[in-house]
Amino acid sequence: MRIIVAKDYNELSKKAASILAGQILLKSNSVLGLATGSTPIGTYQELVRMYREGIIDFEEIVTFNLDEYYSLPRSNEQSYYYFMNEHLFQHINIRNENVHIPNGITRDIESECKRYEEEIKKTGGIDFQLLGIGRNGHIGFNEPDVKFEAVTHLVTLDQDTIDANARFFDDPKDVPHKAISMGIKTIMHSKKIMLLASGSEKAKTIYGMIHGNITPELPASILQLHPEATVILDEAAAELL
Ligand code: GLP
Repeated sequence: MRIIVAKDYNELSKKAASILAGQILLKSNSVLGLATGSTPIGTYQELVRMYREGIIDFEEIVTFNLDEYYSLPRSNEQSYYYFMNEHLFQHINIRNENVHIPNGITRDIESECKRYEEEIKKTGGIDFQLLGIGRNGHIGFNEPDVKFEAVTHLVTLDQDTIDANARFFDDPKDVPHKAISMGIKTIMHSKKIMLLASGSEKAKTIYGMIHGNITPELPASILQLHPEATVILDEAAAELL
């Protein structure tokens, strides 16, 4: 793992966006795996700025999001579909048909998960996967006790994740308890991975991910085995290293 420590969230976002922009410049039809959560918002803002300044172009870029809440319609402000439009897609020239997000309101979960995996394979696989990390070490929505060999599937969220995400909902009771998420195997098949973490509430998890055992109890620890994984932290998230 390559570890980069940035001074603060702003610097972390700039660093992450410039690495992503490098990927886009190197391969204009890159397949990007994208993440939600509060951490990548600054990175998306930087990418939008670079797009507006003519530095990068999304015309041929293909994206696959990591996950989507189960049962939230796309029009719901808390859906990841809504989030991605709000923070990135509506501001850039990506083509609609090149954007992929699991369909959280499907009636047939099994086919939806299979279809998602097949779509990824059809593109030749993810070139560059962006990740955040949950307080409990989840990546995507792969919660502790994860099966490392899992591909896209329906997951039941941990209470800790439900509590952490309640801040985005008007009523904490509205937080979905399930989600469709790429599996660890899907994520590990990406050619490059970049994980971002900000703030001291992630510090213990980050220490475990980098220095601890590789264990299903801390799903992100599997990234120790990825040959092209970069971790970008701000000083607070890196404080225990
Ligand atoms: C959600 C997402 C994850 C994200 C995590 C952390 O659970 N499914 O992909 O990494 O939140 O969010 P934050 O960046 O807000 O701490």
